[in-house]
Amino acid sequence: MSNYPYPIKIRAVWWNDSSKEVCWINTKKLPFDEEVICSNDPGRVAKAIIDMEIRGAPAIGVAAALAVASYAYRISGKLSREEFFREIENAVNVLWNTRPTAHNLFWALKRMRRVIHDSIENKLDMSEVSARLEEEAKKIMDEDIWSNIRLGEYGDQLVPDNATILTHCNAGALATAAFGTAEGVMRVAWYKGKKIKIIATETRPVLQGARLTVWELVKEGIPVTLITDNMVGYIMRKGLVDLVIVGADRITREGYVVNKIGTYMIALSAKRNNIPFYVAAPTSTIDLESTINNVIIEERNPDEVRKVIDKYITLPEVPALNYAFDVTDPDLVTAIITEKGIVKPPFDENLRKILS
Ligand code: MRU
Repeated sequence: MSNYPYPIKIRAVWWNDSSKEVCWINTKKLPFDEEVICSNDPGRVAKAIIDMEIRGAPAIGVAAALAVASYAYRISGKLSREEFFREIENAVNVLWNTRPTAHNLFWALKRMRRVIHDSIENKLDMSEVSARLEEEAKKIMDEDIWSNIRLGEYGDQLVPDNATILTHCNAGALATAAFGTAEGVMRVAWYKGKKIKIIATETRPVLQGARLTVWELVKEGIPVTLITDNMVGYIMRKGLVDLVIVGADRITREGYVVNKIGTYMIALSAKRNNIPFYVAAPTSTIDLESTINNVIIEERNPDEVRKVIDKYITLPEVPALNYAFDVTDPDLVTAIITEKGIVKPPFDENLRKILS
């Protein structure tokens, strides 16, 4: 295991070496209950992703990769070789079809598929295949943590001492393998002694800001103030925000940022108020293949909007829209902070350069 230069206090998803299972903290129960679940069943992990026990683009990619490896161990030696590979491919497909927007999920599963195909070609036995899948999944997990640390160090260069940073949703340790993207930048700034303050939006309807970002920052000791989503414009106008840092579920080759619903309104308000709007994301979130027109914006159960934490707040029969993500235009983004450096506009040119 790597020696990280900063404390790693929270992990969202990890590998249990003795049971060969994927484990996760059930973010649905936070901040009140720190429930840990472990499984070697890809169907169970898929359900955890769909139900948002595991959420956040990098975390779902890491969890899916670990789930494939743990399932390989579970069925290794119990089936014929053909059945073994068929089962593993099925597991990849089940995990692939959980949430459509986050690029990291498909990026991670493509890496796992490459290992499966190489193993078939090289006629590896089932225990060797399982070990290779474990190795690749752990690499994906560790690379995610290092990417967050590195992008945190780049992002720190953009954070003045005493800055107040507004963030949306949770792009923290709980949305990644550990450390976080937007929160990764905050962590590095904090560990370097900068007296930053964070403003967290509550992030309706699932309340990732109120439940997760607040919990995570309080645990870290970083001062955080909670606001409702609809306060953003007013507090920006009042001069209470120095910069915005959010994460991303997918960044297209043109530089469109797909992130938690509400991000676009924050970016618009930031532009109007001359506040820098930064996106912190590992390069595994950048999708050079799609244009914004190909990206599927997930629509979730409208009951999430009709309810607040399982309790109806409106008439149960009222129609409700529940888009989980929105799209922020490239011209509203000041810079994209990655583990390979800070990408400035024009994004259509510079994203390609950083990935080459
Ligand atoms: O629906 P969620 O909670 O999975 O949405 C998460 C976000 O929108 C995050 O900002 C994004 O995944 C980046 S996480 C580092």
